[in-house]
Amino acid sequence: MNIETYELIDKETIKSVLSLVKLQDNARWVKHESNYGLNGEVGDYYALFDNCMSQDLRYLLIEIAPDHAPLELLKIVVNHYRPGGYIPMHIDAGAGLGCEMLCLTENVGQGLKFVEDDKEIFIQDKSGYCNKFKKLNTIHGVDKVDTDRYSVVFIFR
Ligand SMILES: [Fe+2]
Repeated sequence: MNIETYELIDKETIKSVLSLVKLQDNARWVKHESNYGLNGEVGDYYALFDNCMSQDLRYLLIEIAPDHAPLELLKIVVNHYRPGGYIPMHIDAGAGLGCEMLCLTENVGQGLKFVEDDKEIFIQDKSGYCNKFKKLNTIHGVDKVDTDRYSVVFIFR
């Protein structure tokens, strides 16, 4: 599989992360449009970059970051999809040399879609679980959500 899913942290830790994320002032977030879809479409979601988040959140995320040896952690981004938010099928523009996505929420029907051997595969979000990209050029996306979805992207070099 181009994307491998495993449990990274327990639900209690996820709760701490999520409550810190929700405390972040609106001004720290940016509307994120750097990943264009395969047909040039633009997604609708918000991003909180590690250099814009509070220090306690940044330290906590660094502490729980996956071990992606031999690569090292380069960047952390929290993504927030508000109701109606989505990201079209795309290949990451800034995934560094390694990329993992941690789910902070789990709502039925919400998750990552990706393409493997011309087939679309859906991974249901499970909070505390991480989706590790084994192939960085994997086409992936998130369908329109009807409740808030939060995830953390860890980028390695
Ligand atoms: Fe992506």
